[in-house]
Amino acid sequence: MRPIVIAANWKMHTTPAEAGELAATIAARTRVDGPVERVICPPYVCLAAVRDALAGSGVAVGAQNVHHELTGAYTGEVSAPMLAGLASWVILGHSERRRDAAETDDLIGRKLRRAAQAGLRPIVCVGEQLADRETGRAEAVVGAQVHGVLGAFADDPAALVGCGLVIAYEPVWAIGTGRNARGADAAAMADAIRAAIGEAGWPDLAPGVPVLYGGSVTAANVGEFLAEPAIDGALVGGASLKPDEMAGIVARAGLTAQARATGVG
Ligand code: PGA
Repeated sequence: MRPIVIAANWKMHTTPAEAGELAATIAARTRVDGPVERVICPPYVCLAAVRDALAGSGVAVGAQNVHHELTGAYTGEVSAPMLAGLASWVILGHSERRRDAAETDDLIGRKLRRAAQAGLRPIVCVGEQLADRETGRAEAVVGAQVHGVLGAFADDPAALVGCGLVIAYEPVWAIGTGRNARGADAAAMADAIRAAIGEAGWPDLAPGVPVLYGGSVTAANVGEFLAEPAIDGALVGGASLKPDEMAGIVARAGLTAQARATGVG
């Protein structure tokens, strides 16, 4: 059975002092009985404060990116081994990094290998542009992204297997726009993503890979996604800075996790 994951992507928000306080509040407001993995991904400079604030809470800390090399002359960058003791998860290939830092599938694949080597649990983001969806090319585009990223493991397929890969399907047109995908479309894409992982060379791994939905997720609409058995949680941006929203999202995820664990609902 795949776990339910609710990951908060704080993007470029919060100072270290604000982050520690917000993380503690969210941890206290999102306690659930069901098996839900909660992850908070603050900016790099807030990782230590968030780690300290979350100690003993059961909420994990994630980074929003890593560099594809281990060390070197890369001003302003942070490598996977540097996150040891600070983060246990990492978001890779977010569409804002594809857009603003020209990250390609090939580069994201190399980052994924570094994350896997360092024992960081990766959330790899994929998603189509609006024009792709409107012209019926969404699944082809996202499938190509999956193939492109996983191509980094062509010479060592086993390296992908143990890393706890999670994929976040985030249609670019839904991120920060208040316009979310339909649950059924996201579920169809989750199936297509697992099919692509299988075709890329990992048929045994594919069925167990959690696929999250991301893009304008709120407490009010998360149920539409979690109602889909193919969707295993959410990557939440704007709403993840609001404790009320996170409380509602995780509470709904807890109900879903319990229902799936007991086979009811
Ligand atoms: P949003 O962001 O929830 O603000 O749309 C999601 C994301 O970018 O991960």
